[in-house]
Amino acid sequence: MTTTTQPIADADTGPAPGAVLSVRGLRKDFTLHTIDGRTVGALHGVDLDVGPGEHVALAGTSGAGKSTLLRCVYRTYLTGSGHIWFRTETGESVDIAALPDAEVAQLRGHEIGYVSQFLRSQPRRSVLSIVATAGVARGMDREAAHDAAAAALRQVGIDEQLWDMHATVLSGGQKQRVNIAAGTISPPRLLLLDEPVSALDPANRAAVLDLIARLEETGTAVLSVFHDLDAIERLATRVVVLGGGKVLATGAPEDILRDPSLPLEVAR
Ligand SMILES: Nc1ncnc2c1ncn2[C@@H]1O[C@H](COP(=O)(O)OP(=O)(O)O)[C@@H](O)[C@H]1O
Ligand SMILES: [Mg+2]
Repeated sequence: MTTTTQPIADADTGPAPGAVLSVRGLRKDFTLHTIDGRTVGALHGVDLDVGPGEHVALAGTSGAGKSTLLRCVYRTYLTGSGHIWFRTETGESVDIAALPDAEVAQLRGHEIGYVSQFLRSQPRRSVLSIVATAGVARGMDREAAHDAAAAALRQVGIDEQLWDMHATVLSGGQKQRVNIAAGTISPPRLLLLDEPVSALDPANRAAVLDLIARLEETGTAVLSVFHDLDAIERLATRVVVLGGGKVLATGAPEDILRDPSLPLEVAR
């Protein structure tokens, strides 16, 4: 059994050498202003690392804090305390938890991608242009981005007759596939995936999982949440189990997913 219990999070340990992402002592509470101002803790000191070409899958029951962790890394949520070290293209370590908004915006365009169940679709933009623009933002020239966008849309089974439509008219599953095409074109250094295949039928799900599997070759560091065990087993190089706002265990998928003592909520 290679499962290990994490030591108590120490916010002062710096980033791991060579890691793209090093989360250290991450804490996040929510204040429920609309209810009674009560504070609810979601993350109580989380440490984890993701290296280049690694795919770390977060597991744990609903409410364990998986989405919250991804949103702190993408800075959709502000971190309570702790550090989120990101090693940039130029080799510099920056703390996403403390970075000015303008620099976060820069990183999001170029180096960090986030794909959730929901397409944050820009209204009045065509499907093809949403995907191509993501490529341009990550350094492709227009023509290359156009061709790569077309290839990515074909790969995820978005019919060519939809390419010049506004994304707002698409179905949930189609939006999700456009989203993943935009997230993986000219892959970012770090890709955050929050249940990216949840709305897909089996054939489209398989196409999207293939696309994600190929990211390993590009050296993209992936931090993901998948609802189903099969996807984790196929794609993850390591699984980190969250529970009670902490890391309960980390290890190889074949060990973690078969450990009956761990609180996993996954569907086969
Ligand atoms: N915006 C928010 N406001 C208040 N509580 C939140 C918010 N987002 C998440 N939470 C709470 O944080 C905890 C973790 O949620 P979440 O990260 O969504 O879990 P998971 O993705 O593992 O199912 C839950 O108790 C949830 O209710
Ligand atoms: Mg979630």
